Order: sequence, then structure tokens, then C-alpha cells
Amino acid sequence: MNNLTSTTGPGDYDLFDHLVECIENQGYAILPGALPMALVDGLYLHLKSLDTERFKPAGIGRQADEMNNPFVRTDRIRWLDPSVPVMAAYLDWTEQLRLAINRRVFLGLFDYECHFAHYPSGAYYKRHLDAFQGERNRVLTTVCYFNPNWQPGDGGQLLIHDPQTGELLETVQPAYGTMVVFLSERFPHEVLPAQRDRYSIAGWYRVINNQQGRIDPPR
Ligand code: OGA
Ligand code: MN
Repeated sequence: MNNLTSTTGPGDYDLFDHLVECIENQGYAILPGALPMALVDGLYLHLKSLDTERFKPAGIGRQADEMNNPFVRTDRIRWLDPSVPVMAAYLDWTEQLRLAINRRVFLGLFDYECHFAHYPSGAYYKRHLDAFQGERNRVLTTVCYFNPNWQPGDGGQLLIHDPQTGELLETVQPAYGTMVVFLSERFPHEVLPAQRDRYSIAGWYRVINNQQGRIDPPR
């Protein structure tokens, strides 16, 4: 394990223990500084080197459905390229997390898919779920943010709602290096319109869909 994949969080408690504890107790975790800062910086630099004009409107293609139409979301995405070293380091970290979660709690996470997302000024993602109960495919969502000096007035907050009452549970600023993890089937969430460019990596741990005996093919 190199310094990019070190799993030790602030202080001497284990970050993965803390994350799993939050998931068990409340179904989500909000973690400033979850990823090693060198990795966040590397991903950010790489992101800045990409031509975000060439990101694709989300939901064009295989998943063009109700949840992905432009009324619902106007962010633009690009699936991560694992041949880029810093992406490989990120995927390595998410793999360590997958194994750590599977050791501690029975979720049976099988694989992980993720994409960069760019919300240009004005972009949003209305209230939605990342998975539908019964489908048992996407189980755990991760979102990591790459926005230096984000101010509350910049908008783009992630709102997490209570599954039963619909009440607002959390308002998350998409601050540089913050990571959010939540149960995909459980929490309705939305992204308020961003007032400036907003960058993130959104990812999903998936299980094998036993009903159909398969997982969805990679995109
Ligand atoms: C998503 C999503 C939240 C965020 O991509 O499904 O809900 O804060 N993203 O970017
Ligand atoms: Mn979502």
C-alpha cells in the first residue's frame, strides 16, 4: 500500500471503522478528508486537465430513463478511465473500502462503478433515489467533491432527505475532499443549482442481482 491508498483517517481511529459505524447507525456518512489529500489533489489536477466540454449529458445511452432526463438532471459526466494512474489509485482506494465494508457488515458488495460529474453554473439534479428497492443492484453510493474554496453562496449543496418523512436530514457543502457515502436505495437526495462549476466523482458499489443472476455490464 502506498501513501495514496493509506486508510488512516485523522487521529488514531480507523476511518473505515468510523464509516461503517455511521452506515450501520444512520445509513450514511459525511466525511471531510476521507481520501488521502495527495489523492484528492491528484484527482483534482487530472480533472482540470480534462476537457469538460466533452463530458456527456448524464443519462444519454443505456440508462436514458425517467431518472436521467434533462428535466431531472443537467450535470455532465465522464466514466473514469482506470488506465490513468491517479484513477487507478482512486479505484484502489475504493477497492480497499469495499473489502473493509464486506469484512465488517453484510452488504456483499461486489463491484464499483464511478464517473466524474461536472455541474456547470446553473446545473442541478432533482430529488431522486440512486436505486429502486427490489432491484438490489446499486447498494452504496459514494460522492467525493473537488471544489476548492466552495462558499455556501455558491449553491450546489447535496440535500439528503429522511426516507420516511421526507424531512431534510443533511445539507452537504461540496467542499474539496469531502466524501459522502449513503445507502442507495434508502435516501432521497438532490443537488441544488450550482452557481459556479462544481466537480465530483459519483460512484456506486453494486451487488450481483440474484433475481436476474447477473450484474449490469460495465458502461
Ligand atoms: C448522483 C448524485 C450527488 C452529488 O450523481 O446520483 O446524486 O452531490 N450526486 O453530486
Ligand atoms: Mn444520486
